[in-house]
Amino acid sequence: MEKTRVIEARKGESVGRTVQVEGWVRTRRDSKGGFSFLEINDGSCLGNLQVIADGALENYESEIRHITTGASVIVRGEVKSSPAKGQETELHASGVDLLGEADPETYALQKKRHSFEFLRTLAHLRPRTNTFGAIARMRNCVSRSIHDFFQEKGFLYVHTPIITASDCEGAGELFRVTSLDLKSIPREKDQVDFSQDFFERPTFLTVSGQLEAEIFACALGKVYTFGPTFRAENSNTSRHLAEFWMVEPEMAFCDLEDNMELAEAFLKRIFRDALEKCEEDMQFFAGRIEKSAIETLEAVLQAEFLQLSYTEAVDVLEKSNHNFEFPVSWGHDLQSEHERYLTEEKFKRPVILYDYPKTIKPFYMRVNDDDRTVRAMDVLVPRVGEIIGGSQREERLDVLRDRMLDQDLNPDEYWWYLELRRYGTVPHAGFGLGLERTVQFITGMANIRDCIPFPRTPGNADF
Ligand code: 4AD
Ligand code: MG
Repeated sequence: MEKTRVIEARKGESVGRTVQVEGWVRTRRDSKGGFSFLEINDGSCLGNLQVIADGALENYESEIRHITTGASVIVRGEVKSSPAKGQETELHASGVDLLGEADPETYALQKKRHSFEFLRTLAHLRPRTNTFGAIARMRNCVSRSIHDFFQEKGFLYVHTPIITASDCEGAGELFRVTSLDLKSIPREKDQVDFSQDFFERPTFLTVSGQLEAEIFACALGKVYTFGPTFRAENSNTSRHLAEFWMVEPEMAFCDLEDNMELAEAFLKRIFRDALEKCEEDMQFFAGRIEKSAIETLEAVLQAEFLQLSYTEAVDVLEKSNHNFEFPVSWGHDLQSEHERYLTEEKFKRPVILYDYPKTIKPFYMRVNDDDRTVRAMDVLVPRVGEIIGGSQREERLDVLRDRMLDQDLNPDEYWWYLELRRYGTVPHAGFGLGLERTVQFITGMANIRDCIPFPRTPGNADF
């Protein structure tokens, strides 16, 4: 018999086909007419397939009438058009095999609604709910758009390392990687002797693939890396994870203006695909999670992103009569409340801030002629705030070396990075987009921990 998935069986054109569907039972309802309705979901789409199991089936009394929420089944039958509202088809079963029961006394996912906090403690079961199924499909859709967008534009996908010896962002938020025995750490004078460690030097989980992406951009022109990144930053916010996925394009012969243009086109492509390719899930998010989810994306697609210098933004914030928790002043990082004010209230569209004070940004950003600011950019969107961070890179060897010294970095440790400037240096630029913040923005989910299958945050690494 032909196997099919719920998404196909739900389509009108499947009427008349004899098929086999495999999935998990969402609900069972028994009719007085001596038959039962089973709602089956297999994750292929949000909607369930309604199965009609007749009382004449040989295991009807012994099994079917005892099937409960969460049980796994294989159903064979004919797809017929459905008289019921909200579905084009239904499956008239000629056979229902019960594979695995789910004892309703103990199975946690009963039909009632559960809080997202509670579901986080059930990361092994939450993909079986409507919300987390929809988010998983959306993550897949966004990941695919990312590859499609860059591949169509001739970018090369490069795989940058996860274990690294350098702190790209210079923020000291690194997780250490070691195979030393913590019970007897080798010491040399008062220091840990890392020459006895696996890599014979201190190593960490990477916070960004940028430095290595630059190596490839300075050979192959346009590249992107897309993988997990790690930050040991102890912030318990709704927008921070200790492990998250980042996509980082890097382009040679490219300046900050090109970079901003690319970032805008890139985000719009992702949002358009979300609306078009995940229409049913988007309707679910708008209905159940965030009323304005679809309108927000549509508005962003129409809008031209506003480009505003950091200095102008500080001016706008200082002149606003808004009551901020944290004060605003030139030379300090903007807080999320400031970013959100700019994009949500003041300008009501995505805002790209650029030319930040050099003292608050990493060593690799290109210094402007004013010697106070660097060619940094952050893309801000409503609800989430910063979704992209990027910059034009410092391509002048002497300036770069000075910046490293300013920030107490040892240029010798970055000798290979400096050689990119010594031999055939070119203006180049790139940015990083956080995948989870993107999914959070699209879906309207309040907490980023629900936008990744297995969130890692301070105190949480279960599953
Ligand atoms: O602004 P960030 O730190 O930029 C970089 O890492 C650069 N090396 C990127 C580059 O130019 N190639 O991070 C980029 C983006 C942020 O805008 C945000 O979307 C996301 O990564 N991000 C996080 N997402 C979740 N949890 C965290 N702790 C995040 N930190 C950054
Ligand atoms: Mg940033």
